[in-house]
Amino acid sequence: MLQESIPNVARLVEPDRVHKSVYTDEQLFNMEMERIHERVWIYCGHETQVKKPGDYYTVQIGRQPMIMVRGADGTVNVLYNRCPHRGSMICGDRSGNTGEFFRCSYHAWTFNHDGKLKNIPMMESGYKDTRWTRDNPDTNMKKAARVENYRGFVFASLAEDGPSLLEFLGPSKIAFDDICDRAPAGEVEVVPTCFRVIQNSNWKIFLENQLDALHPSVTHQSTGRAAREVEVEIEKKTGKIPLSYHMLSAFATVTIDKWDNFQTINYPYGHCILTGYMGLRPQDPDTLAYEKTLTRAYGEKRKEEILSTNIHHVLIYPGLSVQSPLQQLRAVRPLGVNKTLTEIWHFRLKGAPEPIYRRALAYYNLVNSPATLINADDLENFWKIQTGLGSDGGDWVSFARYYGRDIEKNGVVETGEGMGTSEAPMRNQMKAWAQFMAKA
Ligand code: FES
Ligand SMILES: [Fe+2]
Repeated sequence: MLQESIPNVARLVEPDRVHKSVYTDEQLFNMEMERIHERVWIYCGHETQVKKPGDYYTVQIGRQPMIMVRGADGTVNVLYNRCPHRGSMICGDRSGNTGEFFRCSYHAWTFNHDGKLKNIPMMESGYKDTRWTRDNPDTNMKKAARVENYRGFVFASLAEDGPSLLEFLGPSKIAFDDICDRAPAGEVEVVPTCFRVIQNSNWKIFLENQLDALHPSVTHQSTGRAAREVEVEIEKKTGKIPLSYHMLSAFATVTIDKWDNFQTINYPYGHCILTGYMGLRPQDPDTLAYEKTLTRAYGEKRKEEILSTNIHHVLIYPGLSVQSPLQQLRAVRPLGVNKTLTEIWHFRLKGAPEPIYRRALAYYNLVNSPATLINADDLENFWKIQTGLGSDGGDWVSFARYYGRDIEKNGVVETGEGMGTSEAPMRNQMKAWAQFMAKA
């Protein structure tokens, strides 16, 4: 069935538009999982989620339930969450510590942290003269084909071959450098739990929205205006504006035309960087104290380089959106053609003063959490898009804004000057999508 539809995939993606079925067709969704999510490097989690031997965290890669687990030797393994006996998941809880080994709750087969079979009850008598011998690799829990860690961020690929993690990330690895370099200790620690949001929409709609510089001043205008009104009141009374209000009011004060001043840089494999950020380097005592810790750690010149890194968002296709200056990321886990889970994680800069963490936490809560109106504004759009696309009202989705005016050099596509609201990131993502989908 899938084989028959392969030739049509190329016809669904044109340089400036894509066919609606890309977002609504079940068969294409399964093909995407097979050819994209279950093949490329997917973010599993941060190594500080599993600090001690036996600590595990479950994660979805494509359609596969997986376990990220710390072994006694310190290695972080990624295993399929499936018992080789009769197929039960080994871990039913989202996270925990499994002790010295995993033990299946159905018939007590046990496994080491690297998935290798440890024991089967009464193995010698029960499995005498059968295929279930100790040296049969099928008795082990299956491992992800490849696991790599970049600066504490653990990725897995379910395909034996393909580019290394660093080759795959290319320039988008700056997301992790920026997030870690901002810490005086050069590394971050995960905040132990994340927000989880299930959206009634296709996974690509979320990713497209992440670098859609055209929507914030429209979609979030009402939220921004309300914050601005309160902010003005506070200023009248106290003479100053709390930074947290500014995080929201910026959606009203940075108007649609100003978003054209931003720039996107689009890379192979669908990755993209949005540059420019509303000033996060105020001269308040907390920021100055933080800057001092950075100077002590890195010296004046390097500190300046670190703090002037000009990134708003890094999109790592097909499943990660990183806001490095605020130490947060969103991992995208497709659950079905019209259902997507996002995990919204936050990190602490090791060695930075507490108020800097509190400030980033305010952004996390005010802009990225399920409780904020900003998130609700976006979620409403996503549901409306998915529902509209399911209708007979039209067959195509347009990505034509500033089409033909991108600047392309060596496979990297930059939006032209004053064209920050270009739909180049969506064109780039769909170009990568078509390339991944073409490879059986
Ligand atoms: S299914 Fe796991 S031990 Fe039987
Ligand atoms: Fe938004």
